[in-house]
Amino acid sequence: MSDIKNNPCAPVAATKHRVVWADASRMTAVDSNSIDLIVTSPPYPMIAMWDDIFGKQNRNIHKALKKNNGMAAFEAMHLLLDNVWKEVWRILKPGRFACINIGDATRTIGDHFALYPNHARILSALTRLGFTPLPDILWRKQTNAPNKFMGSGMLPAGAYVTLEHEYILIARKGGKREFTQPAEKQGRRESAYFWEERNTWFSDVWFDIKGSRQALTDPALRKRSAAFPFEIPYRLINMYSAKGDTVLDPFLGTGTTSWAAMAACRNSIGIEMDRHFKPTVFADPAAVRMAANARIDQRLKDHRAFVEERQDKGYHFKHMNTHYNFPVMTAQEKSLRLDRPVKARKIDENILQITYSMAIDHQEPNAPGHDSAGPRQKSLFTTD
Ligand SMILES: C[S@@+](CC[C@H](N)C(=O)[O-])C[C@H]1O[C@@H](n2cnc3c(N)ncnc32)[C@H](O)[C@@H]1O
Repeated sequence: MSDIKNNPCAPVAATKHRVVWADASRMTAVDSNSIDLIVTSPPYPMIAMWDDIFGKQNRNIHKALKKNNGMAAFEAMHLLLDNVWKEVWRILKPGRFACINIGDATRTIGDHFALYPNHARILSALTRLGFTPLPDILWRKQTNAPNKFMGSGMLPAGAYVTLEHEYILIARKGGKREFTQPAEKQGRRESAYFWEERNTWFSDVWFDIKGSRQALTDPALRKRSAAFPFEIPYRLINMYSAKGDTVLDPFLGTGTTSWAAMAACRNSIGIEMDRHFKPTVFADPAAVRMAANARIDQRLKDHRAFVEERQDKGYHFKHMNTHYNFPVMTAQEKSLRLDRPVKARKIDENILQITYSMAIDHQEPNAPGHDSAGPRQKSLFTTD
C-alpha cells in the first residue's frame, strides 16, 4: 500500500527531553509562556500512598488526619497542588492546553467514610486561575476485583458504589491557538491523526486503556510511582499539540509523559522532586524505541484494517495520504505522517536527544524492511 520507494527513510526531526529535579510549585527553570502542552497526573489527595509526600510539605496535614478531620487534610493537600497549577498557568503559552489525570478518593477517617472529590477541587482551582474548562474525559478503568464493593453488601441502604473511573481534566489558557505561518500550518497537517482514531480519542469515555506501563523493571519504584499507561499521555499529546511542540509534566514520576512525547515527535520537560526516579527516567532508551515503534506500527496496522473493512463493504475513499499512498477518509489526513524514533543521544544525564525517520508501512511488499521490521529497526536505533 505505501509508496515508500518515493519516501526515503531520512531523519526528519530531532527532539529534546529534559528532566529537572525540583519542586513543581517553583518551576524557575521554565520560562513564562514557553510551554505548548501540560500532560500530568499529580499525587492524589487523600489516597493514603501520597500522605507522606503532602505531609512533608505541610505538617498540618498529618495533624488534621490524626484529628480525623478528613476535609481539612483534603483542602490542605489541594492548597499545595494549587501552587503548581499557578505555575502551570504562568509557563503555558496562550491558547495551549493542560490535561490532568486525576482520580477521586474514598476513605474512612475515624469511622466516617466519604468521597474526596479531587477532580472537582482541581477544576475549580483551574477556573479561578483563569483557565477555560473544556469537556473532560472519563477514563473507565478495568477491574475484576471480587472484593471491590464497599459497605453493607446486599442489605440496603449502607453500600457505596465503587470508584472505577478517573478523570482527564482539560483546560485551556485563553482562546483558540492560531496556526498562522506556513511552516506551522504544514506541521499541524503532518501531526494529524486518522479519522477513525479521532472517533475513539475524542469520545468522552475511554474504556480501552488498561494497566500501567510495564517497562519499568523495579517493582518497588513502579508501585511508588503510580505510573499511568503510556497510551494516556500518547493520545493526549497527539490530540492537543503539534510535532515539535514542547510538552511539560510537572509530576514526571517514571517519565511516561516524556516517553510518549518522544514517540510523538514532541519535545518534553519533566519536573520531579523525588530523586529516587533518577536512575530510571532515561535509563533505557531502547525501551523507548520499542514502545514507540510498537505503537506506531499498531496505528498503521489499525488504519490498514479499517481501510480494508470499509472497502470490503463497498466504500470508496476519496482521499489518499501523500506519504504512505494509502486511502484516508478526509483531506485533513493527506499529509499525516508518523515519525519513528531511531536514535537517542544523551546530551547529559538529564537531557536526551531523539532523531527520527518517517515510519514506513511494513505491509507494502516492496518496502525496505518488509517482514524484518524488528531486527532492521533495532539496528537503526543506537545510543551514543
Ligand atoms: C502520580 S505520580 C506521577 C506518575 C507519572 N505519571 C508516571 O507515569 O510515572 C506523582 C509524582 O509527582 C511527584 N511529586 C509530588 N509532588 C511534587 C512536587 N511538588 N513537585 C514535583 N514532583 C512532585 C511524586 O514524587 C510522584 O513521582
